[in-house]
Amino acid sequence: LAAGVTLQGSLPFPFGAAVNVNLLKNNTAYRALVIKEYNSLTPENAMKPATLHPQENTYNWDDADYLVDFARQNNKRVHGHTLVWYKSLPSWIKNYQGNTAAWENLLKTHIQTIVTHFKGKVASWDVVNEAFEDDGTLRNSIWVQKLGPDYIARCFQYAHEADPDAQLFYNDFGHEYGATKRTVILNLINNMKSRGIPINGIGMQMHTRYNMTESNWTAAITTAAQTGLKVHISELDVALNPDNNQNLTLTTALAETQAQKYLFIVKAYNAIPKAQQFGITTWNVSDADTWITGNYNRPDWPLPFDSNYNRKPAYQGILDGV
Ligand code: XIL
Repeated sequence: LAAGVTLQGSLPFPFGAAVNVNLLKNNTAYRALVIKEYNSLTPENAMKPATLHPQENTYNWDDADYLVDFARQNNKRVHGHTLVWYKSLPSWIKNYQGNTAAWENLLKTHIQTIVTHFKGKVASWDVVNEAFEDDGTLRNSIWVQKLGPDYIARCFQYAHEADPDAQLFYNDFGHEYGATKRTVILNLINNMKSRGIPINGIGMQMHTRYNMTESNWTAAITTAAQTGLKVHISELDVALNPDNNQNLTLTTALAETQAQKYLFIVKAYNAIPKAQQFGITTWNVSDADTWITGNYNRPDWPLPFDSNYNRKPAYQGILDGV
């Protein structure tokens, strides 16, 4: 690889990572790699409801502001994640007592306080995350229970009121699992578009695995692009140990297979219209900081950098996809 080659310098669309603020502050190798390789950053946890809004009248901006300042100093875009989710609920929301109007006001105030705080600094948001189950039914989240299924559209309206310039995304996983889940997501998006709800983009998480049928990735990407909205591959990682084998080790062959899969996904993404390419974001930076190992309690190596922050074959795969 020629000296000076970077992801951000080589790809025709923004390339980002989910960033952990503690590592950014305390790990110089991590920080240097983030500065060098990426031009878009998503906070891994720093902008989630439980982090930002721990008490009804208390907002904790510290880590998120640190990330935003870091991004500004280093010329990087920040994609906000996530205003509303069924997870990362602070206990004051879980335990909140109030009538429908009070819940509606809670939701609106939460969204608008956060979007207003970052207005002019965070130009895009995952407004609602993971509203559907894998079988295509609407997830029975606290928001559905208290406010009914159309809370999703109102979240977008509230965010838009607070910052009319922000690009607003619906984010979910499983578009590549099959037609069932992605069809309900695309129906939701098309329905909101037809009603004039301010939605600009579709985020496909793409927490995927090396042995996924490749045509499923193509189907996910092309059908998302058919909405006409911006398309963000928002949380890409390619797991190598989806069967949770506790004794698996990373072989050269497996790393090369992973490179081919990254290449395939990047190539499929690069084939959608330029104007719709919001970018690709990997979820985390390296195999040392991947959420997969902790979340699924298994060894895995899903990212383009290894545990020492060195480039893996997947890195070259990404470059070869364009
Ligand atoms: C994950 C983080 O990576 C973890 O550190 C945290 O403990 C749980 O959330 N889909 C999403 C992300 O939208 O917000 C999740 O991030 C990963 C799955």
